[in-house]
Amino acid sequence: RADVENDLEKVLLSQEQLHARLDELAAAIDADYAGKQLLLVGVLKGAVMVMADLVRRLHTDVQMDWMAVSSYGSGTKSSGVVRILKDLDTDLTGRHVLIVEDIIDSGLTLSWLLSNLRSRGPESVEIATMLRKPEAAKVEVDVRYVGFDIPNEFVVGYGLDYAERYRNLPFVGTLAPHVYGA
Ligand code: PRP
Ligand code: MN
Ligand code: MG
Repeated sequence: RADVENDLEKVLLSQEQLHARLDELAAAIDADYAGKQLLLVGVLKGAVMVMADLVRRLHTDVQMDWMAVSSYGSGTKSSGVVRILKDLDTDLTGRHVLIVEDIIDSGLTLSWLLSNLRSRGPESVEIATMLRKPEAAKVEVDVRYVGFDIPNEFVVGYGLDYAERYRNLPFVGTLAPHVYGA
């Protein structure tokens, strides 16, 4: 890893904290979907870590599928208009779907995704996210499973990137201002 210690300001959530919370989320999901078959939909690329750590804790009969989405327009990704780069391979008709995300920031990605997936005739669609920034919300999204509510800071690690870097950190940290040019 390239000089990660110097790039980070502090550790916000340690690997131990993330894993302990995942144990609780997995137990809740197992209880809620007992006797059902569940399709987990991961949103590339950020959700890869959460998905990998979550599925290994579940006893529910699960399948995994993946979507890649991107916001239209330049610069900030807050237009709310989303484009599908990679769609699901799975037909959602009659399925119980759980969207898996690393973070809800403005909520625009998930709010769009939720209505898109709900239009495909599933039995149910819920959301699980490891992180959520309540202060950054531009639209309210009804989220069933939340790992941690965090302050509105620049966070990286555990799937979260800055310019595609730092995703592989096993913890969530805040980025030092010098990295993003402050
Ligand atoms: C990030 C994050 C969420 C989304 C949240 O993904 O992983 O998917 O933004 O932002 P929002 O709530 O404001 O819509 P990003 O678009 O950076 O793609 P990535 O997962 O490949 O990093
Ligand atoms: Mn993402
Ligand atoms: Mg990103």
